[in-house]
Amino acid sequence: MSSIKKIALADYSIFVGSAWEEVKNLLQRPYSKIAVLTDENTHRLCLPLLQQQFDTSTWQILKIPAGEQHKNLSTCSEIWKAMLAGNLNRNALLINLGGGVIGDMGGFCAGTYKRGIDFIQMPTTLLSQVDASIGGKLGIDFEYVKNCVGLFQNPQAVFIFPEFLETLDQREVRSGFAEMIKHSLIADARQWEKLSSLIALDVSQLTSMLPASLQIKKKIVEEDPFEKGIRKALNFGHTIGHAIESWLLPSKTPLLHGEAIAIGMICENYLSHQMLDLPQADMEKITQFILTIYGKTAIPTSSYDQLIQLMRKDKKNEAMEINCTLLHQIGEAAINQDIPEAAIRKSLDYYNSL
Ligand SMILES: NC(=O)c1ccc[n+]([C@@H]2O[C@H](COP(=O)([O-])OP(=O)(O)OC[C@H]3O[C@@H](n4cnc5c(N)ncnc54)[C@H](O)[C@@H]3O)[C@@H](O)[C@H]2O)c1
Ligand SMILES: [Zn+2]
Repeated sequence: MSSIKKIALADYSIFVGSAWEEVKNLLQRPYSKIAVLTDENTHRLCLPLLQQQFDTSTWQILKIPAGEQHKNLSTCSEIWKAMLAGNLNRNALLINLGGGVIGDMGGFCAGTYKRGIDFIQMPTTLLSQVDASIGGKLGIDFEYVKNCVGLFQNPQAVFIFPEFLETLDQREVRSGFAEMIKHSLIADARQWEKLSSLIALDVSQLTSMLPASLQIKKKIVEEDPFEKGIRKALNFGHTIGHAIESWLLPSKTPLLHGEAIAIGMICENYLSHQMLDLPQADMEKITQFILTIYGKTAIPTSSYDQLIQLMRKDKKNEAMEINCTLLHQIGEAAINQDIPEAAIRKSLDYYNSL
């Protein structure tokens, strides 16, 4: 297996690679008890890898159903009940073994149980490895509002083991890759050159590109931990992408988050050319690369009104114009761009014309 890369943040580190020794060191701390939170898939596919490395006979293993629809208060209640029943006290440690749902909800449960116990993140999807692993955002959905209740709190450490990706569905891998594309486009032209020359999304190539991607998010989050300014750069592709994701959610063919963001990035890349200085050749290269990986999804003109409405609901968009993060050029984001509705519609037309 490849070497281990350590990314040090102010109060914890992220390890990329098979850093079992580092996990062992951390578990040597005088924790009163160790618990692991899994969902039904990571229980079956990822937990055995942990069990090969550690004697888990004294650990408390928690298993919840998989999926975003379970990232809610009633699942938290089950988790807290299990923690109580397992006699976890203030000095216990929770290992969150799973994708972003487990990381966000497990972190939230740990961060609030007994006013906060230690937790470590072991993200097992590419999306959670590259995105949810930095930034300290924890939480759950509430009353149909995504990530409505939560807190900012950092884990003791994050362990990104490439081996977990081996069992992940290729569609999920592709979805997570969209966030890596985004990181490169908003902040690192050299990383974009590397990513855009990839032919296949295989685990070893992706893993070798993860540290640079994480460095980008780290730099942005450290500059702006509470999303007052530059952290908005991470919204590139998300104003339009989120609307498409929400619009397709109740349909028979919903998109995964990254798949919707990929469409959003094509549209917002078009807007970057139309409204800012992104050269046409770069715009076309970005569009072609994203299309090659994600293919096309039809967005009928009849859905535009609804999409625009969804975009207006997105965060602080009460004004007439719609707030997006665009690109000045590859590797440089332009936050807080107010885009007229007509331009948004044209960007959707552009996508449909491809
Ligand atoms: N905290 C943050 O900064 C942040 C950032 C991005 C996303 N998120 C959150 O992350 C969530 C989405 O994360 P996700 O895409 O990882 O979803 P997820 O946790 O639902 O995982 C996706 C699916 O993959 C399965 N799975 C996980 N690991 C696997 C593996 N190694 N092999 C096989 N199957 C596996 C899961 O059981 C699930 O069915 C959302 O709730 C989102 O809000 C948080
Ligand atoms: Zn995203």
